[in-house]
Amino acid sequence: MAALKELRCGRVVADVSEPLPFRRRFERILLDAPCSGTGTLGRNPEIKWRMQPSDLPRFHDRQVKMLTRALDALAPGGRLVYSTCSLEREENEAVLEKVLGRLPDKILRRLPGVDPGDGFFAAVIPSN
Ligand SMILES: C[S@@+](CC[C@H](N)C(=O)[O-])C[C@H]1O[C@@H](n2cnc3c(N)ncnc32)[C@H](O)[C@@H]1O
Repeated sequence: MAALKELRCGRVVADVSEPLPFRRRFERILLDAPCSGTGTLGRNPEIKWRMQPSDLPRFHDRQVKMLTRALDALAPGGRLVYSTCSLEREENEAVLEKVLGRLPDKILRRLPGVDPGDGFFAAVIPSN
């Protein structure tokens, strides 16, 4: 938040799974989506006990809604980065396939135990 203040960025509080309250479109969007956090199990082992089988479809549905809304706000020629700290296909590739019908060319996957730090997923989605 301090970094945003330094950049003098405006802040809007909105439910991104609903239609967004913007009249303009944006050239760059980062959708760091709420997720199960399974990429952070090394630091947050309680996730193993907290997670329920119904969580993944629930996260998936919300991520699909959020990505759809965020893409509506992307300007022509712009780029959106979709990211999660989840390792689950349901929250990553399956979300992109559902919304875009395919996987984008630029995808980054970081795996705990292979790469330093948390597990992480990010995909760069150019506007249509
Ligand atoms: C992975 S975190 C983002 C962390 C952020 N990038 C940071 O560095 O602090 C996901 C965020 O999405 C927010 N969130 C959850 N559901 C949302 C919704 N329907 N609309 C907008 N934000 C939501 C959560 O409150 C949480 O702050």
